[in-house]
Amino acid sequence: MSTGILSDRICLITGSSRGIGLGVARVFAENGASVVLHGRDEESLGESLAELSEPQKHSYITADIITAEGAGVLAAAFPRLHERLDVLVHSAGILGPPGIPLAEYPAESWKDVLHLNLTAPFLVTQALLPALRKGDHPSVIFVSSGLGYKGRAGWGAYSVSKFGVEGLNQVWADELEAEGIRVNAVNPGGTRTQMRAVAYPQEDPMTLPTPEDIASVFVWLARADTAVTGQSLEARDWVGRDPAI
Ligand SMILES: NC(=O)c1ccc[n+]([C@@H]2O[C@H](COP(=O)([O-])OP(=O)(O)OC[C@H]3O[C@@H](n4cnc5c(N)ncnc54)[C@H](OP(=O)(O)O)[C@@H]3O)[C@@H](O)[C@H]2O)c1
Repeated sequence: MSTGILSDRICLITGSSRGIGLGVARVFAENGASVVLHGRDEESLGESLAELSEPQKHSYITADIITAEGAGVLAAAFPRLHERLDVLVHSAGILGPPGIPLAEYPAESWKDVLHLNLTAPFLVTQALLPALRKGDHPSVIFVSSGLGYKGRAGWGAYSVSKFGVEGLNQVWADELEAEGIRVNAVNPGGTRTQMRAVAYPQEDPMTLPTPEDIASVFVWLARADTAVTGQSLEARDWVGRDPAI
């Protein structure tokens, strides 16, 4: 899927040291984008950057965004790398303690999951609006989940945070449409990552698509000539589809 359709697009992907964020970064880079990776661990970010196509075009930011201060660190670091932002993908996320019913759910975990999965994407989008406003046909992409439309026992704060992400997507999309900033959400569906392996330890990961397999919809939303906004899309519907068409 190497098309150059993202050439000259400047893209920041949170949570891209591994998993879905890194898979999307790899496919964006293959299609010509300049990518800014993000995570907490400098060493893994350096390794991830080195394996992207044309590594000299890319960079990374290290910031723990589980607090408002950390989200501020990420947002403050970006303008030192690029003057404008064309594509912002919010992939950083945590599960929280799996299988714990709300009756026993620890308040500290609730706070952390809601902050990283929901408040950080709000704060980072808000702080990066000046760079997005300078962007070329800018696009913001939230990463949601099927648990953001249908709650399920034992998924506690994770499910609630993804319901919040769906709402955040709709409100930002409505508020930014007049400025030409598109905002959409993607539900990756079950994908072969560390998070999925923790959530479903009995599952054979080889039965799942890889992060690169599900990246087509992200590429399509990142293109300068895609017009949709305010949508919530299923990445699984796009597996095998050519985002250049
Ligand atoms: N995998 C699935 O089947 C699936 C299904 C539906 C939705 N999702 C969603 O897809 C997104 C990515 O999930 P994934 O499966 O790729 O997870 P993953 O493999 O666990 O990767 C999570 C990413 O988030 C980063 N991260 C975690 N805590 C962070 C923090 N405090 N500050 C900054 N970065 C942090 C991690 O970087 P470091 O640990 O290196 O800092 C890593 O890059 C999440 O929003 C998840 O809810 C995944």
